[in-house]
Amino acid sequence: MSSDRRLKLVKSPDETRELSLAAKREGKTVGLVPTMGALHEGHLSLVRKCREECGLAMVSIYVNPTQFGEGEDLGEYPRVLEKDLAKCEAEGVDVVFAPSNGDMYPPGHSSWVEVGGLTKTMCGLSRPGHLRGVTTVVAKLFNICRPDRAYFGRKDLQQCVVIRRMVRDLDMPVEIVRMPIVREPDGLAMSSRNAHLSPEERAAALCLHKALVDFEKAVGGGERSANVLLEEMAGTVIAEPAAALDYAVLVDTETLEDVTELEGEVAAALAVWMGETRLIDNTIVDVG
Ligand code: PAJ
Repeated sequence: MSSDRRLKLVKSPDETRELSLAAKREGKTVGLVPTMGALHEGHLSLVRKCREECGLAMVSIYVNPTQFGEGEDLGEYPRVLEKDLAKCEAEGVDVVFAPSNGDMYPPGHSSWVEVGGLTKTMCGLSRPGHLRGVTTVVAKLFNICRPDRAYFGRKDLQQCVVIRRMVRDLDMPVEIVRMPIVREPDGLAMSSRNAHLSPEERAAALCLHKALVDFEKAVGGGERSANVLLEEMAGTVIAEPAAALDYAVLVDTETLEDVTELEGEVAAALAVWMGETRLIDNTIVDVG
């Protein structure tokens, strides 16, 4: 590769915007993968797609304080910038944008981007303010990095739906690309938070995937009643002593409204506490 494909680590928002605009002037498509770092194969699947589809591949690494509630794991969130940079370099990323809190939220910061409706369910109920923090930082990242395309994982189902709605409602000139969930060989969805699990919790965490696989089987077998399916899903989690169910829902994939009878594209989504660690997972079925 020529030297202009060497990874650049940029902390300044202005410099990042300049790099993006310069690439656009050269006719390149600019792609962005927003992350909070501690990169794993789930993140890297997004990075690869971005690199494949875009002339300038950007990854942002920023642990966004405004999406963590009081008492949540902001302080413990893994921060491993050097390792992340090596992974980005190996994937051929052009620019890593790793801003400081002072640049992202200067004193007096008081503007927020909030999507209504969709944020009042699921994680919006158990983590008030979380999605407002996500949409605010993502809007800021879009304004700084000016991507033509931005890549998000379906593991964070509600986040994906909310960001797509924000982009549509506010006419943001960016295409949102959704990518499938990447799992460990035994089925656990990859997450930076998996590192916090004790060996016992790690084993018990398989109940999320099991509940979703059983759900898919039941739907495959013709079951359409949300009540029956939800009871089974929740039952699988509750049967695991190390797990505490936060929510189990069956929702329309566009509106995130609860369904009663399965029809069209439906997501089964779970949030489960394993000790101090909260895990989420989901699967989407299309029953026509
Ligand atoms: P983070 O948790 O670091 O995730 C960054 C992106 O990677 C998200 O789009 C997420 O859905 C995706 N991702 C994580 N695990 C995945 C997996 N196992 N398979 C596929 N994709 C996966 O999500 C955030 O950061 C933040 O909320 C952010 C959007 C960066 C805003 O701060």
